[in-house]
Amino acid sequence: MRALVTGVAGFVGSHLAERLLIDGHEVVGIDSFTDYYDNALKAANLAQVQVHGDRFTFVEGDLNTADLELILRNVTHVFHQAGQPGVRLSWGKDFAAYIDANIAATQRLLEAARTAPRLERLVYASSSSVYGDAETYPTLETDRPMPRSPYGVTKLAAEHLCVLYAKNFGVPTVSLRYFTVYGPRQRPDMAFTRFLRAAVTGGIITIYGDGEQVRDFTYVADIVDANVRAATADGVPPGAVYNVAGGSSVTVNEVLAIIKELSGHELNVERTDAVDGDVRRTGGSTEAFEAATGWKSAVSLEAGLANHLTWTLEQVQG
Ligand code: UGA
Repeated sequence: MRALVTGVAGFVGSHLAERLLIDGHEVVGIDSFTDYYDNALKAANLAQVQVHGDRFTFVEGDLNTADLELILRNVTHVFHQAGQPGVRLSWGKDFAAYIDANIAATQRLLEAARTAPRLERLVYASSSSVYGDAETYPTLETDRPMPRSPYGVTKLAAEHLCVLYAKNFGVPTVSLRYFTVYGPRQRPDMAFTRFLRAAVTGGIITIYGDGEQVRDFTYVADIVDANVRAATADGVPPGAVYNVAGGSSVTVNEVLAIIKELSGHELNVERTDAVDGDVRRTGGSTEAFEAATGWKSAVSLEAGLANHLTWTLEQVQG
């Protein structure tokens, strides 16, 4: 395959590009280095991809201005990981960045995909945040999406665009609704990276609300494997939408107990008010995705957290 990975310097994008290169594929990666978090971290992610050699080409660019027809000319598979993340920060004037990066950029990519001569599949990184406080648990793809954050609204809008372009123009899209991804290189604004760093440095862990919110955390290697399967499996109809969830329904308080155990440190926890945009519970059924692709979550929360802790220690110790 000749793959395009958007958001290649990000958390999931960099891991995915590495896996594709290790599997022997050619990879073009694009990233615009937005200022959502420290660009030194993204440069370090990208450096890990670049060590895999000359089958990797990096394009620094923004999907809203880049020549996407040219970039897609020889591409067989697109993995669209780029976007403006963060459920809790998408209110107010910052919403404009979410519209640009999540909706407009996806629409532009889909337009270019319409005429890409060799395109076999386009995998879009959607989000469990499209559900909001879901109707049922484990949530099915057919349950009614009701986002609780403006971020979730933009991820859902782009997902609808993927379905539209599949139905109207035959663009072979598949959307994967990721459930809270964690592991080495996780973004610095996300819970586990914050908690683990605080655990090993003696810093303060801030819990939003009572800590009884539940998440279906998913290890990054499982997400990468889901992308590869979604891109290559035969039983994936154009416009398909699937949950990709790790299967751990745990509260944030339970995660803290595991981190305390793994790190061997007493945790310094303070509690603040719950934050607008945060849902109470996520939990996804993965039956449909497993049936279509044979995927199964392979990494337990304890094993994944141990890897995330090892990476955190490397970061802290330089
Ligand atoms: C994550 C990602 O940030 C989104 O980009 C993604 O789309 C979403 O998962 C998803 O699955 O749809 P979130 O679940 O909020 O969103 O991920 P975390 O930052 O890992 O937060 C997990 C829980 O920990 C949340 O309930 C949050 O309120 C809590 N938290 C987070 C804290 O209590 N303190 C913190 O410092 C950070």
